[in-house]
Amino acid sequence: MFISIKQAEEKKHGEIAIRGWVYRERGSNKLKFITLRDATGIIQCVIEKDIVGEELFKTADKLQIEASMEIHGTIKEDKRAPTGFEISVNDFKVIGWSDTYPISKDQSPEFLLDNRHLWLRSRKMAAVMKVRHTVLSAFREFYNKHGFYEFSPPILQPNQCEGGSTLFEVKYYQTKTFLTQSWQLYGESSIFALEKLYCISPCFRAEKSKTSRHLSEFWMAEMEAAWIGLKELTQSAEECVSFIVKKVVEENEEELKVLGQDVEKLKKIKAPFPRLTYTEVLERLAKKGDKVKWGKDLRTVEEDTIMEEFDKPLIVTHYPKEIMAFYKPKDPDDEKTALCFDMLAPEGYGEIIGGSQRDTDIEELTKALKKMGENPKHYDWYFDLRKYGSVPHSGYGLGIERVVAWLCKLDNIKDAIPFPRTMLRWTP
Ligand code: 4AD
Ligand code: MG
Repeated sequence: MFISIKQAEEKKHGEIAIRGWVYRERGSNKLKFITLRDATGIIQCVIEKDIVGEELFKTADKLQIEASMEIHGTIKEDKRAPTGFEISVNDFKVIGWSDTYPISKDQSPEFLLDNRHLWLRSRKMAAVMKVRHTVLSAFREFYNKHGFYEFSPPILQPNQCEGGSTLFEVKYYQTKTFLTQSWQLYGESSIFALEKLYCISPCFRAEKSKTSRHLSEFWMAEMEAAWIGLKELTQSAEECVSFIVKKVVEENEEELKVLGQDVEKLKKIKAPFPRLTYTEVLERLAKKGDKVKWGKDLRTVEEDTIMEEFDKPLIVTHYPKEIMAFYKPKDPDDEKTALCFDMLAPEGYGEIIGGSQRDTDIEELTKALKKMGENPKHYDWYFDLRKYGSVPHSGYGLGIERVVAWLCKLDNIKDAIPFPRTMLRWTP
């Protein structure tokens, strides 16, 4: 019976059978060292001519990186081996031969993106995908525990949610529709049935920026709940993010090490997070010599400057109403601002969450939609939600790749998703 490399190491000694791919190989005319890789780890295997015989040793000599094979042997602890264990091979079988592998050391990021289908096998990408798995399951676990229902929104949607300029248009039979930018309007419709719900879904935005933070296809984890306002919303967001970080620290220590991330630093990321209003952020920026005119959105540089002061995520509330999405309501205590928030990650990873209370005033919504050139008629179904038993409600969306990039200490958001899509890249 085959076991994983991790299980073999846990067994520590004795006969084992494993299978995987050649990660490294070197050898002499008597000894061949194979580092074998599977989904759980890597291990050094030694093939000796005197043990396996002349014929099989010749086969071993032809093995190249990424060949797949089965190995039968004896495992023992060995301080000199890269992972502290070594397998002495009794017998092996090649399952799939490998040509000369195109990926070697020191290749350019573009080359690795062109060969992403192969580069996914690297220790780095495997580590990132494992952390990503933890982030997704932690978000689900957090909201399941809090009595939320997982919801499946449509991906083809007739309306914009986050501005018409980044919509992807899709030919739809004799007409057209769009790829979702956010589940939000559908999440809002469904709180009237389920009250508390969440979804994890791909989102699409035709971003014209070629930054290290934007993808055209990304995944968003969103929640929407009836009867809550901005205060409860930000609390839910900070507790969820703390929970995600805790889970990653618990479950991905090995991966964080591969990625060069400092686990101790992450252990300190615990709610509550600091809070500032947009106006307070501007005051702090001004003191640092960075003057931003009130009413202008914060740019990446300004987000980075303000985050120099924090080693936890920061919650920024009350952005100017004028520059916000149409559904964000004005604050009755300060009508120039909206009841909304962004969560900014430390170390220059930027906005990881955007959320708000939802406007329930049809007139205000109509005004905001008209201002952005939208036809309010197309939103009749959304206005219905305000006509039949409207309730206060709020929600937020967390960018999965932004969070993964932050936790994995990645230089570029493209490495936070297996197959990135940007303005300049949509293959392989
Ligand atoms: O701030 P955004 O645009 O908010 C919404 O879409 C709301 N409708 C969510 C809601 O309230 N349910 O996007 C939410 C988050 C951002 O904070 C960011 O982390 C991520 O989604 N995001 C992107 N990530 C990668 N590439 C892009 N192009 C992104 N656009 C947004
Ligand atoms: Mg936003």
